[in-house]
Amino acid sequence: MDVRGAGKESILDCVRVQIFGGGGGTMQEGSKYGNIVRYALDRIGEGAWKAGAKLPSVRAMAERNGCSVNTVLRAYEALQSEGYVYAKPKAGFFVAADPDRPSPRATAAIPFDAASPDESAMPYKEFFEYMTKAVFQRRGALFDYGDPQGLPSLRQALAKHLQDVGLFVDERRIFVVSGSQQALQLLVSMPFPNGKTHVLVEQPTYHGMLRALRTANVPAIGLERTESGIDLERLERHFQSNPIKLFYTASRFHNPTGWSYAKSQRESIARLARKYDVYVVEDDYLADLEHDSRNEPIAANDGCDRIVYVKSFSKTLLPGMRLGLAALPPPLVETFREHKLCADFGTSSLSQNALELYLRNGLFDVHRKSVRATYRDRMTELIRVCRETLPTQVTLDAPAGGIFASLFLPKTLPEAEFARALGAAGVPMVPGERFFLPGFPEAKPLMRISVIRADEAAIRRGVELVAAEARRLLRTTPKERDEASGGHWI
Ligand SMILES: Cc1ncc(COP(=O)(O)O)c(C=O)c1O
Repeated sequence: MDVRGAGKESILDCVRVQIFGGGGGTMQEGSKYGNIVRYALDRIGEGAWKAGAKLPSVRAMAERNGCSVNTVLRAYEALQSEGYVYAKPKAGFFVAADPDRPSPRATAAIPFDAASPDESAMPYKEFFEYMTKAVFQRRGALFDYGDPQGLPSLRQALAKHLQDVGLFVDERRIFVVSGSQQALQLLVSMPFPNGKTHVLVEQPTYHGMLRALRTANVPAIGLERTESGIDLERLERHFQSNPIKLFYTASRFHNPTGWSYAKSQRESIARLARKYDVYVVEDDYLADLEHDSRNEPIAANDGCDRIVYVKSFSKTLLPGMRLGLAALPPPLVETFREHKLCADFGTSSLSQNALELYLRNGLFDVHRKSVRATYRDRMTELIRVCRETLPTQVTLDAPAGGIFASLFLPKTLPEAEFARALGAAGVPMVPGERFFLPGFPEAKPLMRISVIRADEAAIRRGVELVAAEARRLLRTTPKERDEASGGHWI
């Protein structure tokens, strides 16, 4: 949100939280310090002080407000630490350019809508060393295009890495992809040896897959997924009577619900795929967060003969590296190679080399354990706080782990309205409609909640706000809410 586009109230509310650290109570209303911050934000907010403009000198501001130079300095430094202004030695303070200024909402928010990790849980500095090593020790790779399938030595390391999840795949079937999203997009667009045309997706499902289907203009069919999995008879009927090229599934820690399939369901899916000549694309994007080694992927049930196994490094490492892998059944390898080559000639060799060094030195394993524990603790806290705090009409079907869960809403709490209210309260979440095919009935309206960027304390604060918003909306009728907002709900 651009400061200029925001109402004054919202800026100040956020600033109170950001700079003065919490509820209005901690800010001394009317203090000189507060007045200076407020005045500067107003000027910036309404565009009177443009990017690059010099702020009044500290001395002039002190005189104007009848306060000490120190008070002005503290106020300017608070604005600086929040990115609104910057200091030039011996010249004074200047208004920061828009891109350098964080969105007040974004920094004040507890980002329950996040899908990418924060710095605190990621080995950024450590990985940076490996990037540097990749540049210096393997600089030859930077002067070449490399194999579109991926660095052979990295593929060997990945084949070994996959054994940890119970997959024994020859490296000749492994592709390094520029994020698992790329694998999904290529699989959706390319022809399959079974000659079929349609894609079957769980409902709800990962919205990035729905996007890929939409842009590739591929016909899609939905199959309901609930806390107890999918109806296997329905799955069989789809496989039998529709031209299903592939069935896309996130077998564990599903996005957006966090659910995982039971062993018997995973085995049945693999069996039915083989029986009806359907491929399964298993998106195991959170495999590294699994605590129970007996929970193997669907692909472990057929050695990747019918199953395309897709894995991401974005949630446990760095999404900006754009690293993922796809392990393919042999009949798909050549077509996938051709499509991957046309997409980008291969994934960045810099990222690939850094990952290989990182994996080979055993650091990924160490990091994986720590990140797994971090997210498990957060999820445990989310489940506990939701149970204690949310009104009984709003329920959370506890996931086995991972980073996402869904809050299920009663009909009296419309999803879109709740989403807007949560955004305004600084606890944004993603509304369920994003995870459904157009026209597919959302049996239980939902909101996706994520713990990837919220630690336990933030979860506690955030869920309190969510519960308060839910109670407020449940107390009033839609008509009353509409009237209270002057006809348009904000
Ligand atoms: C289920 C699922 N699959 C795939 C992806 C894409 O991840 P990547 O960054 O590896 O492309 C995401 C990203 O959020 C996801 O949630």
